[in-house]
Amino acid sequence: LTTIEVRALSGVCRVHVGERLARLASLVPAGLTVYVTDAHVARLYGASFGPGRTIVLEPGEASKSLAGLERVYDGLLDAGADRDTFVVAVGGGVVCDVAGFAASTYLRGLPFGFVPTTLLAQVDAGIGGKNGIDFRGVKNLVGVFQQPRFVLCDPAVLGTLPAGETANGLAEMVKTAAIGSPALFDEIERAPEKALGLDPDLIGRAVVESLRIKAAVVEADEREAGARRVLNLGHTLGHAVESVAGVAHGEAVGAGLVFAARLSVRRGLLPAGDAERITTLVRRLGLPAEVGVPAPARPALVDAVRRDKKRVGDAVRFVFLEAIGRPLVREIPLAELESAIHDLC
Ligand SMILES: NC(=O)c1ccc[n+]([C@@H]2O[C@H](COP(=O)([O-])OP(=O)(O)OC[C@H]3O[C@@H](n4cnc5c(N)ncnc54)[C@H](O)[C@@H]3O)[C@@H](O)[C@H]2O)c1
Repeated sequence: LTTIEVRALSGVCRVHVGERLARLASLVPAGLTVYVTDAHVARLYGASFGPGRTIVLEPGEASKSLAGLERVYDGLLDAGADRDTFVVAVGGGVVCDVAGFAASTYLRGLPFGFVPTTLLAQVDAGIGGKNGIDFRGVKNLVGVFQQPRFVLCDPAVLGTLPAGETANGLAEMVKTAAIGSPALFDEIERAPEKALGLDPDLIGRAVVESLRIKAAVVEADEREAGARRVLNLGHTLGHAVESVAGVAHGEAVGAGLVFAARLSVRRGLLPAGDAERITTLVRRLGLPAEVGVPAPARPALVDAVRRDKKRVGDAVRFVFLEAIGRPLVREIPLAELESAIHDLC
């Protein structure tokens, strides 16, 4: 069991890694508890929740919406929630994002905790204090920064994840290693088949290391005014590919990481050998190194990059690499980015 503390402006969060879901009750304060989960997770793990009310959302991104939020508010109202009510989200990034937002705004803020049940949510979405929903097709348009009181990561729940969900988490894990931990990168590189098979020792260490890196970045810059931007490595092209080609997030981030590495080489920042290591690791994890966007769809891809939240006038803040473990944020003119998409994708 490892406990990592995140001390941020919006609160202090204790992240318990390697803790059992069955121990959840020991972290929840006395009083009414309202659990928020989705139908898949409720079916698999609902029996392990402690006493209290449970609000069950439909699985999938569509619940990260005003409708999903309304469902949580309705559930809190029906349960007679007051300021002492504690909200626990048990599920993937969707459940954590919407439940964290609902808790942060209901009665101007209820205390809440997270039990992330996907690899992606354990290494990424569950910590950092960003809670919110999508609106009119724009991801994460409405939300708040608010730290949960605790995060409980139980490795055992990852055993029931569908394969595609594992790949999403591995892509974020490689991203985190690439920005902050050459040692973690080496470890996954030495045994990618263990990562793919969710080997408990490797995944346990990798989750802890990923969380340590993300926690340090969030503590330095919770509201993303500077240092936190490095967490977007691979996501400028990744988000665009995800929306245009409709591929899974992990596949899009895998291709986005390779693109960022190749662009870093082209700018003379990163040795070609490091970009090759990233490309090989992405491929060995079963993720695509190139984006599957056919030539006629390329203009839409460039358009999606233009709409990126990190755009500043005619440029985009882009996360480059100088080495594995050493990111560098620089503005890149949109025209240069467009030509790189044509040449490198
Ligand atoms: N807040 C943040 O900082 C942050 C960071 C990264 C991603 N996100 C958000 O996270 C969301 C994606 O999260 P996700 O990938 O966890 O997706 P998800 O929450 O949709 O979960 C994926 C699927 O896995 C199922 N599932 C969850 N746990 C399971 C388990 N243990 N066994 C079997 N099935 C299980 C779910 O029911 C769902 O069908 C996106 O909306 C993204 O924007 C947020």
